[in-house]
Amino acid sequence: MYKIAAVGGDGIGPEIVNEGKKVLDAASEKFNFDIEWTDFHIGADRYISDGTLLTEDDLTELGKFRAIYFGAIGDERVRPGILEKGILLALRFHFDLYVNLRPIRLLSGVETPLAGKGPKDIDFVVVRENTEDFYVGIGSRFRKRQKTTLDVDRELYNVKFGLDIESDAEEIAYQIGVITREGARRVQTYAFDLAMRRRKKLTSVDKANVLSDIYGLWREVFTETAKNYPDVATEFNFVDAVTMWFVKNPEWFDVVVTPNMFGDIITDLGAMIQGGLGLAPGGNINPKGTSMFEPIHGSAPKYKGMGVANPIATIWAGSLLLDHIGEHEAATAVLHAIEKSIKDGVVTKDMGGSASTSKAGSYIAECLTIEN
Ligand code: IPM
Ligand code: MN
Repeated sequence: MYKIAAVGGDGIGPEIVNEGKKVLDAASEKFNFDIEWTDFHIGADRYISDGTLLTEDDLTELGKFRAIYFGAIGDERVRPGILEKGILLALRFHFDLYVNLRPIRLLSGVETPLAGKGPKDIDFVVVRENTEDFYVGIGSRFRKRQKTTLDVDRELYNVKFGLDIESDAEEIAYQIGVITREGARRVQTYAFDLAMRRRKKLTSVDKANVLSDIYGLWREVFTETAKNYPDVATEFNFVDAVTMWFVKNPEWFDVVVTPNMFGDIITDLGAMIQGGLGLAPGGNINPKGTSMFEPIHGSAPKYKGMGVANPIATIWAGSLLLDHIGEHEAATAVLHAIEKSIKDGVVTKDMGGSASTSKAGSYIAECLTIEN
């Protein structure tokens, strides 16, 4: 029996998580295991009503679960950044979810905007570092001739920053990116292990030609880590160039490992080449703790409650969840059921169908029960 927490969140989040639960429940019945769901009401509504983002209590409670199934957060009534940083990033940091696993795979029956490319060409995984880099939240802004001291709002391996800044510029802003040897090593090791289970090719993406301190360290660690994996073919790509190659030669890639911010950017590109944001899942993983699975798209507030959201990214994230907890057969079956629903054309409008969110989800659950 698996205890899983469900956080629907904002906008279309609750609807798509409902569909995901349906499919995972169907999978559990089919493959003889049990899932016990506990819903958490975290997000914009609560923030607006009582000002809380994530409480200590939430974190303690969520930490008791094997995994968190997460919808989306973001709401027009709240200034951008508040919910994203206060909930989503806070969860990633709190549970030290240092791997952000983002498969870029063209499912059969899905159209890619890349001419002449098919499912055989588009099948790789981006391993995005998820706790460091420019996401650490260290930065500030100030006006002419003010003095400022750097405020650090996160502790990283007990690193302490102290920096006094004075400037004659009208206004200045800065943000500091941080990579630690430990942080780079652990995510790169995960990526090498993953490559060993796949086609044994690993691409490291950085910008060491310009941001040479932060990504110089990243590269150095990569070169060292590679020595433990003589069977894995490795290469370095600069991030600007990799956007070109994702489009021109996606078949080159097997596993891609990259620091946080570049990972954020290139996985939206990846989502588009696998058919759109409605089809792109993500796992936030701590191999030794509570992990969290979510679609990589946002909460699309304007579609809230309309039953038009595509549930596939979330259901696929559910498949990643199953894989993570060790239900590999069920995970594969969910993916096949998604492909069957696409083949049968029971899909939402964004994919050219006419099914509602709930119809599309139910159909996938049905395919799972009948087919596999
Ligand atoms: C993602 C999102 C988040 C990120 C935002 C919402 C904080 O874009 O999961 O890719 O930047 O990581
Ligand atoms: Mn993103």
